[in-house]
Amino acid sequence: MKKILFTASECVPFIKTGGLADVIGSLPGAINRDEFEVRVMIPAYTIIPEQYRSKMKTVCYFQSFFNGRDRYIGVKELELGGVTYDFIDNEEYFGGGYPYTDYYYDIEKFCFFCKAVLSVLPSLGFRPDIIHCNDWHTGLIPVYLKTEFAGDPFYQGIKSIMTVHNLKFQGVYNAKYMSRVSGLPMDLFTIDKLLTYDDGNMLKGGLVYADRITTVSETYAEEIKTPDYGEGLDGLFRARSHEFCGIVNGIDDQVFDPTSDRLIPHRYSLRTVLSGKIKNKLALQRQLGLEEDDSVMMFGIVSRLTEQKGMELIARVLPDLMASRAQLVVLGTGEYHYENVFRSAAQAYPGRLSANFTYSEELSHRIYAASDAFIMPSRFEPCGLSQLIALRYGSLPIVRETGGLKDTVVPYNRFTGEGTGFSFQFYDSNVFLNILRDSLKTFYEDRKAYAKLQRQAMEQDFSWEASAKKYEEMYRTL
Ligand code: ADP
Ligand code: GLC
Repeated sequence: MKKILFTASECVPFIKTGGLADVIGSLPGAINRDEFEVRVMIPAYTIIPEQYRSKMKTVCYFQSFFNGRDRYIGVKELELGGVTYDFIDNEEYFGGGYPYTDYYYDIEKFCFFCKAVLSVLPSLGFRPDIIHCNDWHTGLIPVYLKTEFAGDPFYQGIKSIMTVHNLKFQGVYNAKYMSRVSGLPMDLFTIDKLLTYDDGNMLKGGLVYADRITTVSETYAEEIKTPDYGEGLDGLFRARSHEFCGIVNGIDDQVFDPTSDRLIPHRYSLRTVLSGKIKNKLALQRQLGLEEDDSVMMFGIVSRLTEQKGMELIARVLPDLMASRAQLVVLGTGEYHYENVFRSAAQAYPGRLSANFTYSEELSHRIYAASDAFIMPSRFEPCGLSQLIALRYGSLPIVRETGGLKDTVVPYNRFTGEGTGFSFQFYDSNVFLNILRDSLKTFYEDRKAYAKLQRQAMEQDFSWEASAKKYEEMYRTL
């Protein structure tokens, strides 16, 4: 049986700051267990909730030389839903209140993590055939495998895959510093390997040394081969295009299921979607102090408040949107500037706009269930999970046609009735506003067509099944 080791910086339900955690928390469980043995390895952050920490067992520990001195490396283990999770333990690196700190320290921390992932394997008695790495935090694993660890028979023949979830973040820092903390020799820091301009680049290392590269949608895979989206690495994606592909993410269809979701006040199915969503809308209006009106069109946003997510466009159209008969519920955290935009809008439109700057699983589910449309006009979007969740809850995504948004939302065609949402191409606030108006018009003037779109949205299958098969095929052929 082939053994696969997934490794990343976050994983639901232990630690999450974004969609990466959802993917690492759900994809491994979707891989066929009759054919593959799967494990997941992440840092043992001390902020992982006690309910999980108390169940972890320390399976090995030792001292290992890293960045100037001997350091403690431990492995804690936990089984959950048939998957084995290993946590790399070192409280100096993985203590604190948040998985990421400042960039400088994160570089050292994740260099340590990459090396530790490989170092613990012999003590664990687990020799993976493939290490599946995710984002820059794990970028040095393929590099170590083919350099420092290459002479050791234990590691020979282990293959690696590098999956890009967000090319914006690459783990870039001064090359001399990176060489010193990682222990990798300076001669690896050349432009064809770990160097971009004058800096070391951990993700680039992974992309150069991994046996395969993937990203999380087909369109994003094409986009990042171009200078507009390639973040300086487009040439590398073009050069390795025969070993590079896009596989769209799925969502956990048990967690996100309006028929059984315990986090929403009223559960509903394809058959009861209209009445079910109205009940959830009224409940959310009451909860958030919005005007209680079951016939108003409610827009939802659940997002990091950053430029990537198209917040600039949203800020520009807000006055026009609120001039229409609409309510808006926002849940997100991120840049202070965008929080302020929504904070003042909430004051300007009391009872019609609710802005919530926290992280709340429960409120997010309630928004997906209550809203009629879900706004996500991203500047770029490797895949996007929010729109997949929105589809499943019959909240029609209004998206920009980029990356995974383009691959997962079918734009409304008023002549054929086809579609699962609304979309536009150019990153322009007028174009975006027109699409919002389109959705309002359809909602108020052609309720039947809108309801049909909602059912079509809910009927889409974005479980992991199809995508897991594609990963399995790659594991098989590597
Ligand atoms: P990204 O990973 O780029 O932030 P995704 O769409 O892939 O975007 O994933 C975002 C995930 O995080 C979704 O599951 C979304 O519901 C969730 N999410 C984002 N912000 C919040 C928040 N403030 N509270 C709860 N869930 C959130
Ligand atoms: C990143 C991307 C998002 C993607 C997620 C999981 O956070 O921004 O588009 O869905 O990773 O792959």
